[in-house]
Amino acid sequence: MTIRTVAGVLLGACALAWPLAHASAGAPPAPALRSVSVQLPVSKRMFPGGAEAAPANANCLTCHSAGMVLNQPSLSKATWEAEVKKMIAVYKAPIAEKDIAPIAAYLAATKGTD
Ligand code: HEC
Repeated sequence: MTIRTVAGVLLGACALAWPLAHASAGAPPAPALRSVSVQLPVSKRMFPGGAEAAPANANCLTCHSAGMVLNQPSLSKATWEAEVKKMIAVYKAPIAEKDIAPIAAYLAATKGTD
């Protein structure tokens, strides 16, 4: 018997023995599932500012509120632009390339440092 054959026999024995040993332990108890009703907060707040705010209103409110964005600390235009790009890259926000700069400019003017 070669070493390879011995290893094969041992592996085969383990593959047979493991399910047998664990079958007797039984399946874990099923978790108790129940339905719950959740009231989500509703926000009608829009980004203020008319035409300059339009790209932000069109692109940011699908996932979170204007308040959530406007309650962030004041950031530079470059940081706002990086934030918008993060929404696209990380969270797959469907924001058109042409809207990135206007949104960053609007946010920098509204919640900016420069
Ligand atoms: C496809 C959904 C989606 C869209 C559209 C979206 N976001 Fe987000 N955003 C997220 C998610 C998810 C988070 C993370 C939320 C959390 O951590 O609770 C987030 C977080 C943020 C944060 C918090 C800081 C951070 O980086 O986590 C800011 C600021 C933000 N988004 C700004 C924007 C702006 C501005 C727009 C519009 C240009 C926008 N988002 C559009 C999904 C989106």
